[in-house]
Amino acid sequence: MLDSNLSLEFLRVVEQAAIACARTMGQGDRHKSDQVAVEAMRRVMDTVPIDGTIVIGEGERDEAPMLYIGEKVGMMHAKNIQGPRLVDFEAVDIAVDPLEGTNLCATGAANAIAVLAVSEKGGLLHAPDLYMEKLVVGPSSKNAVSLDATPRENLQAIARCLGRDLEDLVVTVLDRERHEALIAEIRATGARIRLIGDGDLSAGIAAAVVGSGVHAVMGTGGAPEGVLTAAAMRCLHGEIFARLVVKTPEHEARCRAMGISDFTRVYRSHDLAPGKRIIFAATGVTDGTLMRGVRFFGDGTRTSSVIMQNDPHLVRFIDSIHVDGTKDVKIRF
Ligand code: FBP
Repeated sequence: MLDSNLSLEFLRVVEQAAIACARTMGQGDRHKSDQVAVEAMRRVMDTVPIDGTIVIGEGERDEAPMLYIGEKVGMMHAKNIQGPRLVDFEAVDIAVDPLEGTNLCATGAANAIAVLAVSEKGGLLHAPDLYMEKLVVGPSSKNAVSLDATPRENLQAIARCLGRDLEDLVVTVLDRERHEALIAEIRATGARIRLIGDGDLSAGIAAAVVGSGVHAVMGTGGAPEGVLTAAAMRCLHGEIFARLVVKTPEHEARCRAMGISDFTRVYRSHDLAPGKRIIFAATGVTDGTLMRGVRFFGDGTRTSSVIMQNDPHLVRFIDSIHVDGTKDVKIRF
């Protein structure tokens, strides 16, 4: 059983990852931004009282020095704790993206976030790092759309569910050549489009939050981001519909290595993140739709985060001021 106090422990993890990479904002070095986020997340993760396993991370063990798939994390495995572990730490699976939107951070563009999801063991799909076709919608239209319907059919359904005209809808799409036909089809319906350079995960979260101004996310993006989106949907009651893009024998082999043999399956949130207990945590790195970016004010740092869990069901937007203990910091509202 996942202790809901753990939510606040994981809040510290995403906050510190966001603070670390926010220092590199606009420096034009996406690898550096990612590296410092990974290092900070890895360091703080070992202070969380869990027996954790990374199931979605920075890649296979031989390609990522830390937060690799299969890596053991948490206090149970912390190297700086000596002697036998006297406490029974809870075994959890963890999906991480220490910096979602590396380019967004490197250029100072909107919606870069530090993010993770946690569940009891087996509660998050071990997805290969392939592309995934995605459709993400909010609670009111989730039973009216389908990945096999046309963009027009889906947008008509969303408009009906929201009691709006097609022209009132906003669809977020990654600005990629592969989406040329999709963008043309959406434009032909009259719906509005927000083209984004990166970050279909934070766009997906926004689509499930009423008032964000985003009504759907469509197009192809990373499968790991798809699993994280699904974890968020489990807490927000939105929905992701997703299908892996498997085009080559190499793709097939990568799926099989993760236990996936049905390459045409349409996954929904419960399939990608089936856990009974889910925790989802994200902190804004740059200013975004739902969270502000990290702000440094000399002797303190302010972060804006969302922490969600599905049982007990709770969604918290958290504004933290990190005070440097050695200084007389003025706290502003
Ligand atoms: P990074 O955080 O690794 O930079 O990925 C950002 C992202 O835009 C995701 O949000 C999205 O799912 C994926 O990359 C799209 O991949 P591609 O850039 O290859 O189209």
